[in-house]
Formats: sequence, structure tokens, C-alpha cells
Amino acid sequence: MRTLFEERGEEIAAVILEPVCGNMGCVPPAEGYLEGLREITQRYGTVLIFDEVMTGFRLARGGAQERYGVVPDMTCLGKIIGGGLPVGAFGGKREIMEQVAPSGPIYQAGTLSGNPLAMTAGLATLRATSEPGFYERLEELGERWRRGMQEVAGEGDVPFTINQVGSMASIFFTGGAVTNFDSAARSDTKAFKDFFWHMLRCGIYLAPSQYEAGFISSAHSEEDFEKTFEAAREWFVKASAEAGRS
Ligand SMILES: Cc1ncc(COP(=O)(O)O)c(C=O)c1O
Repeated sequence: MRTLFEERGEEIAAVILEPVCGNMGCVPPAEGYLEGLREITQRYGTVLIFDEVMTGFRLARGGAQERYGVVPDMTCLGKIIGGGLPVGAFGGKREIMEQVAPSGPIYQAGTLSGNPLAMTAGLATLRATSEPGFYERLEELGERWRRGMQEVAGEGDVPFTINQVGSMASIFFTGGAVTNFDSAARSDTKAFKDFFWHMLRCGIYLAPSQYEAGFISSAHSEEDFEKTFEAAREWFVKASAEAGRS
């Protein structure tokens, strides 16, 4: 990014990114990356946009920007703020939002904008997440998932890496650290496919791609975790035995 900005910084209007990636599996930002982006974009007058559609109200009440202490110029939200119903929202600094109608010239509207049903579901969800201790408990559940999966996956000899940030998590079928798209793309997607179908047969519905993050919900129980770990254990043991035979 530094090189790109040194070469073409004056031409770059905006930078948009997932502060913790979910769309290549869960990949946290390298240390200093978000802070560095903030500093460079500020220097060049480039609008920094965090796509917090996955991370907003998940990684903290204030999203990834609260968790990492880096404030962008604009934020996109979705998912949690609709309580499971379709919704999207964007917001940002006053000087930017004043460009949007009715105060500014940019008209933004949609048939379902402000849809009362989605707003009601979203408000109910936001109220639930405002309960004292909600995010602390969600953090614990995320940790619990990582520890449990680490333990059962470690019983086999199939290479794997687990990434987890709060209640966002992924298991990648690769032995090396997954820190960006290139390292995520080294995953054995055939192994993932086999794992996915095994888990589904056991009643555990994961996102059907190696490159989707998984979400732990406050509704998940200890029983759900145990069932998931047991199903995963079976697969790792079976896959290790098959690898040993071939
Ligand atoms: C990080 C991220 N941003 C944006 C979107 C798009 O949201 P929508 O499908 O509501 O347009 C998604 C969809 O999953 C997403 O994961």
C-alpha cells in the first residue's frame, strides 16, 4: 500500500476493506496494518472505508474499529443490524454524510430503505447485544470453539490452521499460517469439501466454502459445541487413516 500510494496516492479517492477479512475465510489484519492504512490515507486525503458488514456489532459493540482502535472515515454495516432480515447501512464523518440528500446533492434511496420489519428485528438484536456481559460471553464462546477444534483436529495428522477473532473463525486445511489471500489459497479445498459434507451428514451446517468465515452465535450451547467437536474429531481421524493408506 505504501508503494502504491507513493506512486499514485493523489489519484486514489478511497480505500475500502474488511478490517478483519471474512471473505477469504477469517484473516485478521497484520499488526500495524490498519494503523498504517489510516496514516497513509489521511496523508493523501483518501477516504478510508471499513466494510464492517460482518464485523460490525460482532467483534465488539463498536465493531473492528473499536477492537483495533482505528477510526475510518466511513463504515458499511449489514447482517447483525437487521437481526437476520435484509438490511444495509452506511455512515461516516459529518463532512461526508452532509453530501447525502436531503442536506447534500447525492440522492440515496431504495424500496426497502428503512423497512419497518427489518428495523424492528435489528433494534431487537441491538438491544440483546446491549445486555451487560454480552460481548465478554461471545469472546469466551469464540475461544471455546478455537480450543475445542484445535484439540480434535490435532488428534489427526491432516495439516490445518485455525484463525479466530472473537466470534469469527475459520479452519483452513493448510499447515502454514494464514495471513493473507495467498496463504489462504494454499488450503486443500478437496479436504475442505470432504470435511464440509461429513459435518453436514452429522447435522452441522458450515458455510460451504473454505473461503467463508464461520460465526459463533450467542445462541450456541455447550451441547452444540460438543456435537461439533465430536463430528470434527471423527473426520480428522478418518482422513488421517485414509491419508496413511494412500
Ligand atoms: C463483508 C461483506 N460486505 C458486504 C457484503 C454484501 O452485503 P449484502 O449481501 O447485504 O449486499 C457481504 C455479504 O455477505 C459481506 O460479507
